[in-house]
Amino acid sequence: APVLDDVSAEILDLKKQLGATILAHYYQEGEIQALADITGDSLKLAREATKVDSPVIVFCGVLFMAETAKMLNPAKTVLLPDLKAGCSLVDACPADKLEHYQEVLRANDRKFQTVCYINSSAKVKALSDWVVTSGNAEDVVRNKVPPGYEILFVPDKHLGRYLQELTGRDMILWDGSCMVHEIFSVVDLIKQKKEHPKAVTIAHPECPQNILQLADFAGGTEAMIKHVATYKEPTEFLVATEANMMWELERRYPQHAYLGVPGITCSCNKCPHMARNTLEKVRDCMKNRSPEILWQPEFDKAKEVLARSLLNPP
Ligand code: 13P
Ligand code: SF4
Repeated sequence: APVLDDVSAEILDLKKQLGATILAHYYQEGEIQALADITGDSLKLAREATKVDSPVIVFCGVLFMAETAKMLNPAKTVLLPDLKAGCSLVDACPADKLEHYQEVLRANDRKFQTVCYINSSAKVKALSDWVVTSGNAEDVVRNKVPPGYEILFVPDKHLGRYLQELTGRDMILWDGSCMVHEIFSVVDLIKQKKEHPKAVTIAHPECPQNILQLADFAGGTEAMIKHVATYKEPTEFLVATEANMMWELERRYPQHAYLGVPGITCSCNKCPHMARNTLEKVRDCMKNRSPEILWQPEFDKAKEVLARSLLNPP
């Protein structure tokens, strides 16, 4: 067995003491993913959280993910290593602005439903008809929003545009974006493609259109993993998504080579919000049973929207 550092050993000890299950998003550092009981994308983690039988969930991800786990499991204690681990998409869509915009649309007799990306606050979820992740968005847009309705899609304009193109549905797009996926450098990607002519480019639909146009495959996090799984021969992949994703790809399919696509302003493309969670903070939140996600009034409505959107696959 591998020798664990002191902090990791302490975490495993605390896990037993507390009766805790550790969930980690693929965008966490490898050392955190290595300790987790379950790793996944937003959709998988939301669903897996409902199957946990321990009383405590330690959520290694960002606030909206831990809130989702709490809403779907009200009786459990949900701990988040750093409450400040936010998301630029959540920040782009304040609930009061959304509510005002919905009122304007209604006053203009627009027949619409609101579909929000899970990367949003609980208040925004409570104002929505459906919640989607990159994993179920196409299905919800195609099959759950009744025909004849426009879709107000919030807050990710890039994912919204991509879904609009994929499904042909009429959409009103909110002006939000992911600070990580938005800044991939087209110039660098073109250069990488020239240097690695056989490489396969995979990209998350949170990327702008000019990146997706250069990609061989676009899809949410689990979809990208599934796509890579279809390559049997050693292959080079150019990866236009959060850099820690390559940890999981390397772990599962070590026969391939993975090259991150650089960003315009930084070469690494790690999410600074996800990066707030460190092994030390994971340990401390377990030691202190804090920060804990406490029930908020808006969770009552938001959890209904979440449950019918994510837990009832057709
Ligand atoms: P998924 O986990 O749904 O692919 O979302 C990506 C993301 O940016 C999470 O913050
Ligand atoms: Fe938000 Fe983007 Fe970070 Fe995901 S990667 S938490 S969408 S800022």
